[in-house]
Amino acid sequence: MTGRPPNQPFGVKSENLTIVEHRVATSSRAQRNGHAGGVLWFTGLSGAGKSTLAMAVEQHLFGKGYQVYVLDGDNIRSGLNANLGFSPADRAENIRRVGEAAALFANAGILCIAAFISPYRSDRERARQAAGKAFHEIHIDADLAICEQRDPKGLYAKARAGEIEDFTGVSAPYEAPADPELTVDSGDRSIAACVQDIVTYVERAFKLK
Ligand code: ADX
Repeated sequence: MTGRPPNQPFGVKSENLTIVEHRVATSSRAQRNGHAGGVLWFTGLSGAGKSTLAMAVEQHLFGKGYQVYVLDGDNIRSGLNANLGFSPADRAENIRRVGEAAALFANAGILCIAAFISPYRSDRERARQAAGKAFHEIHIDADLAICEQRDPKGLYAKARAGEIEDFTGVSAPYEAPADPELTVDSGDRSIAACVQDIVTYVERAFKLK
């Protein structure tokens, strides 16, 4: 099992739990797939290109035979996390659940691309703890000015007009990663170039030799 060792859960409400061991080793899953499982955690401002790059990387890696699946903020907030908003506490719970789900994907041998603003370092750190060494933080890095100029969903304009509260970059903070495994400068480069950066990184970090 990657990530948190069994029998050392933290913040668990229930008592009398007995962790059951899998009989399929993580290494066996990796052998079958030809690559290790893991979490590619995309963090960045709204409009930086997280979702676009996540879906393009997923398509590209799938074509190369990878087991890969994207968890995307807007999608997950429409289902699993439909009860959460954008207060710091709700964002923390959003990222906690997704961090745990992504770690399960990694344990199942799958490369999970999690594309969430995830603006708070502490929340991302907790997601890292859930997946352990399988966690790779990728900063999708575009300046606020560029994201605001792109404004693909018209949300920055709404936030500036006071129609959206707690909007990241406008009325809520974004804490950039201090030491990400990879930074992708998505501000003034093509989608294809950014995808290539990430695919190259994945082949080096996850593909079995
Ligand atoms: S996170 O901060 O909790 O990680 P998440 O990635 O799930 O955010 O969702 C962000 C998406 O929700 C944005 O791409 C945008 O479409 C939408 N959204 C709606 N309201 C807000 C807001 N106040 N701040 C940021 N994004 C918002």
